[in-house]
Amino acid sequence: MCGIVGYIGSREAYPIIITGLKRQEYRGYDSTGVALINHGLKVFKKKGKVAELEEYLLGKNLSASVGIGHTRWATHGEPSDRNAHPHQSASGKLAMIHNGIIENYNQLKQELLNKGYTFNSETDTEVLLNFIEEIQKNNQCSLEEALRIALKRVTGAYVILLLDEGNPDTIIAARKGSPLVIGIGKDEHFLGSDATPMLEYTKEVVYVNDYEIAIVKANELVLKNLGNEGQTPYITKLDVELAAIEKGGFEHFMLKEIFEQPGTIYDCLRGRLDATAGTITMSGVQNNIDTLKNANRIIIVACGTSWHAGLLAEYIIEELCRTPVEVEYASEFRYRNPIINKGDVIIAISQSGETADTLVAIEKAKEQGAIIFGIVNVVGSSIARASHAGAYTHAGPEIGVASTKAFTAQLVVLTMIALKVAKEKESITPERYSKLLFELGDIPEKAGALLKRAEELKIIGEKYKGAADALYLGRGYNFPVALEGALKLKEISYIHAEGYPAAEMKHGPIALVDDKLPVVFVATKDDYHNKIVSNIQEIKARKGKVIAIITDGDESITSMADDVFAVPPADEIVSPMLSVIPLQLLSYYIGVAKGCDVDKPRNLAKSVTVE
Ligand code: F6R
Repeated sequence: MCGIVGYIGSREAYPIIITGLKRQEYRGYDSTGVALINHGLKVFKKKGKVAELEEYLLGKNLSASVGIGHTRWATHGEPSDRNAHPHQSASGKLAMIHNGIIENYNQLKQELLNKGYTFNSETDTEVLLNFIEEIQKNNQCSLEEALRIALKRVTGAYVILLLDEGNPDTIIAARKGSPLVIGIGKDEHFLGSDATPMLEYTKEVVYVNDYEIAIVKANELVLKNLGNEGQTPYITKLDVELAAIEKGGFEHFMLKEIFEQPGTIYDCLRGRLDATAGTITMSGVQNNIDTLKNANRIIIVACGTSWHAGLLAEYIIEELCRTPVEVEYASEFRYRNPIINKGDVIIAISQSGETADTLVAIEKAKEQGAIIFGIVNVVGSSIARASHAGAYTHAGPEIGVASTKAFTAQLVVLTMIALKVAKEKESITPERYSKLLFELGDIPEKAGALLKRAEELKIIGEKYKGAADALYLGRGYNFPVALEGALKLKEISYIHAEGYPAAEMKHGPIALVDDKLPVVFVATKDDYHNKIVSNIQEIKARKGKVIAIITDGDESITSMADDVFAVPPADEIVSPMLSVIPLQLLSYYIGVAKGCDVDKPRNLAKSVTVE
């Protein structure tokens, strides 16, 4: 969490930093701050979103060609002006921003308190900054050397950017466990938690590795490890255009991203699926086909929405490949003592590729000899790089904090992998394999067709915006969809929602049902359809309000439900790629109707780079 931006060159730094921070607000928006050097160090910071700082700074002299900026997701200390970054050292000469958590900050703080230091904030960042300055003072060494010594004492995760008033032509940066990208311009450099702040200036970037320090000047980038040995910067070409991170006429990023799904699903299939030829081309899978085919067990690790995609993958892989699958919350997996045997394959699923729990879970599994297969959206991200092999989801930048298009792209990739492995294992009949390839190929068009009726969900959303709670139910492949629908509603509208397997409802949750409770059934046609119709009757008998996502033409539910939304018919394996879309829209419209900030829901951040 937290977004960091830096600039050094000959342009005005402030506009670049503020624009970069706005693009990185998905990483947190509890407070914002900038530090600039122009005849001395100036620090401005404020609780709240970037726009609030921008307004506060109107009319101030912000001219400088070197600066750093931060948008915060609070960990140590409440959101407030004084806990906002950048922090200044005791001498006032150094300014620092930080993304991550210094786990042993208490110990370091105690050492500094014993030496008479006092602190202006409750943050771990201010402690680390003063610790660095104390080392510099004590050892009479350069800032770079002091930083190196300090970081050897630090446990936890960090990306830090440091400005030194006495050395105004340099930004010093360091990374461990949180992302840092450096954009290379002509006699200028850009720094960011991702590449979005630099997209209009350069397409050449360096992804800094863990335990590296970058000494960045306008015309020079030096990378070193903590042992002071030079590292060669590896330059990567970006293929993201500016338009991809703008709203493109939509009111919110979330709505834009929901509507992008026909295109993103198509992009995910493009060049991979050829239904007529009966082929799926995925080099990451092909190069590891024996490992995947012979896996004794597949363990999927992920968090949140990506975990829901993993749950669906469990159903799909077990059915098509007959390989046992376990799905684990990455945060649990990393702290228990999981049994990983030879021949187990770990699939890590992550939109951002930076989720700390997922990253550490795969590092842990790697130590035990597991093969890691990454399903990641952000190219070059930490999880992508930590995986032995993988497949990108190609959904493009997802800016809305609630994940939408990344989820459907994850399902597409996971289904293609399952089909490819099943074909290789001969655990699927040629007829079913071919049918599913065509079914997959039809999803973009079907998603486009259902999105044309989005207004129907706006009307339904208006009806239920006053609900205090909601229940989401589904069976089989529709159960993870119900979980995802409930998560979306919670995040976006702050309405308490629970997802359950429909049949499990009578073992407890049915007690919640009264004439006010909306119960959302994901009830598209599948092998259990009659059963879910009975479950709907059970809710209606108790006067619950039923909203049903059904298959077009299914009359059996229309007469029973209070509200229905029909999706085009599809095989039950690919149907979740469609049935989740109305649930995304329903949450969106309810959130908007309630006046919530749907792109930046309270307390959340898009990239969860802390535990
Ligand atoms: C929900 C959401 C989160 C993420 C979770 C994992 O809308 O966005 O639950 O799915 O934080 O993030 P990634 O996929 O980036 O690892």
